[in-house]
Amino acid sequence: MKCNHLTLPSAQSMQIIKSISSLRETVRHWRVSGETIAFVPTMGNLHDGHLCLVNNAKKSADRVVVSIFVNPTQFSPGEDFGAYPRTPENDTAKLEMAGVDGLFMPSVEAVYPEGSSTFVEVPGISDVLCGKFRPGHFRGVATVVCKLFNMVQPDVALFGEKDWQQLTVIRRMTEDLNMPVQIIGVPTVREPSGLAMSSRNAYMSAEETRQAAIIYQSLLSAESALQAGNRDYTAIEQTQTEKLSGEGFRVDYFAIRRANDLSEPASDERNFVILVAAKLGRARLIDNIRLNL
Ligand code: PAF
Repeated sequence: MKCNHLTLPSAQSMQIIKSISSLRETVRHWRVSGETIAFVPTMGNLHDGHLCLVNNAKKSADRVVVSIFVNPTQFSPGEDFGAYPRTPENDTAKLEMAGVDGLFMPSVEAVYPEGSSTFVEVPGISDVLCGKFRPGHFRGVATVVCKLFNMVQPDVALFGEKDWQQLTVIRRMTEDLNMPVQIIGVPTVREPSGLAMSSRNAYMSAEETRQAAIIYQSLLSAESALQAGNRDYTAIEQTQTEKLSGEGFRVDYFAIRRANDLSEPASDERNFVILVAAKLGRARLIDNIRLNL
C-alpha cells in the first residue's frame, strides 16, 4: 500500500464537528448523496504515519472522517493520559491540508456520559503481550472504537500496522459483532533511521531518539534468523531481549508469534509477526515486522 501524503489541499474546507448529533447529520447528508465513508480514528498529535492513513482513506471512499479523541479508558492508572501530547491546532491544519472532509473531536462527556457502563471485551488476544503489561488497555480500545464506529458508521476504517495487536483485536471485534465495516491495516511509516513513527516519540531526547532505532534493528535480526531457518523461537527472543537490555532498554517483551492471531507459532509456521515493546527513558516504544515464508 503506497503512501504519498503530499496531496494538494481539497477545494472544500474541512468541517470541524464536536457533537455526535452534528456528526450524524453530516454523515447522513453524504450517505443520501450516495457517498461512501472512510474513517481514521486517532488520539491526535498527528505525524506522517497518520497522514499516510488519511491518504489511504481517500483512496478507499468518497469522504474521509478523522477523529481526535484521547480515550481515557485505554490508559491504566499511572499511565500518561494527562501528559499525552495534545496539539489540536497543528492537527487541524495538517488534516485540512490533507483534504479531510470531517474532523470529529468529541468531549469525554459526549463519549462517556454520566452513567455509561457498557464495555467491549475481546478476551484472549487482549490479555497477551501489551495486554499483560497494560491491563484493561484493549478493553478501552475496543470500547471506544466500537462507539466511534456507531457514531460515524463508516464503510471502511483504517489503522496503522505499528499497533499490530490493536489491529488484531479490532479485526476480531468487528468480525465477532458483525459490524459492517471493512478494516484496512496500513504499513508502518518509519523515520530514515528505521524508528517507527509514534506520537510518543515526542517523549524522547535527541540521544534517546537516535538510540531507539536499535529496536528496528533487533526486529530485522530476528527476521534474518527466521529466514535462515532457525526455529528456536525462545532462543531468538532471548538473544534480542538481552541485546536490547544491554543497550539500556527496559524490555516488556520480544516475541515471535503467528501473525493472524498472535498465538505461539508451531515449528512449521510460515506467517509470522515479530513484536517488541520496550521502554527507553519516559517512552514506551512498540514495533513489529511481519514475515511470510
Ligand atoms: O491507535 C490509536 O491512536 C488509538 O488506540 C485509537 C485506535 C484511536 C483508539 O483510541
